[in-house]
Amino acid sequence: MILPNKLNITNQLELNKAEEKISKQKAKKLFESGEINQIEVGTFAGLTQIHAYLFGEIYDFAGKLRDVNIAKGNFRFAPLMYLEQSLQNISKMPQSNFDKIIEKYVEMNIAHPFREGNGRATRIWLDLMLKKELKQVIDWNMVDKEDYLMAMERSTVKDIEIKYLLGKALTDKVNDREIFMKGIDVSYYFEGYSEFSIEEL
Ligand SMILES: Nc1ncnc2c1ncn2[C@@H]1O[C@H](COP(=O)(O)OP(=O)(O)OP(=O)(O)O)[C@@H](O)[C@H]1O
Ligand SMILES: [Mg+2]
Repeated sequence: MILPNKLNITNQLELNKAEEKISKQKAKKLFESGEINQIEVGTFAGLTQIHAYLFGEIYDFAGKLRDVNIAKGNFRFAPLMYLEQSLQNISKMPQSNFDKIIEKYVEMNIAHPFREGNGRATRIWLDLMLKKELKQVIDWNMVDKEDYLMAMERSTVKDIEIKYLLGKALTDKVNDREIFMKGIDVSYYFEGYSEFSIEEL
């Protein structure tokens, strides 16, 4: 099924490319303009800001709660019926150390609040928590795609693997342009988008 979009694209491949191109341009602008520093850290409201910023030109549902149930592999993300309450609870979860931040990230992944673009928006949200609370971010280039996806799949049962994997990829270079830009490219690569390099857009 092809998602209805503001660009009136009806070809899946074309939509994939346009989504990657436009939202990567927006990610770059989010960093370069400094607007990233205005995002509320660690709440659903903050995640909404990121999602709306990245995908607002492409989808009407950008920054809006999904209205369908979704699943990936064998896992069903939070049922619609519980979604709003769950997001309120997650927003209030502590983020005072690395383990707590990853636990919060895992819960937000289980919520999967948007119709599409959860993985990419939520990784930026995660880095903002790490940056604020620990003065560190993840160097996503140091995280293997298959290991990551497997650890995230496992995280709904046990979070030890994702904590280990992300813990060893932390860096102190929190304002480094290259770490951010490369991180976006890798984050998109995790989701199957690798047509454009962000620095060339
Ligand atoms: N089986 C799974 N169980 C739990 N979480 C998963 C599973 N597979 C993937 N994930 C997590 O969900 C993220 C994105 O998955 P998904 O493709 O469902 O979301 P999305 O809304 O399409 O986001 P994006 O468009 O950014 O990929 C992955 O990056 C990973 O963190
Ligand atoms: Mg997707």
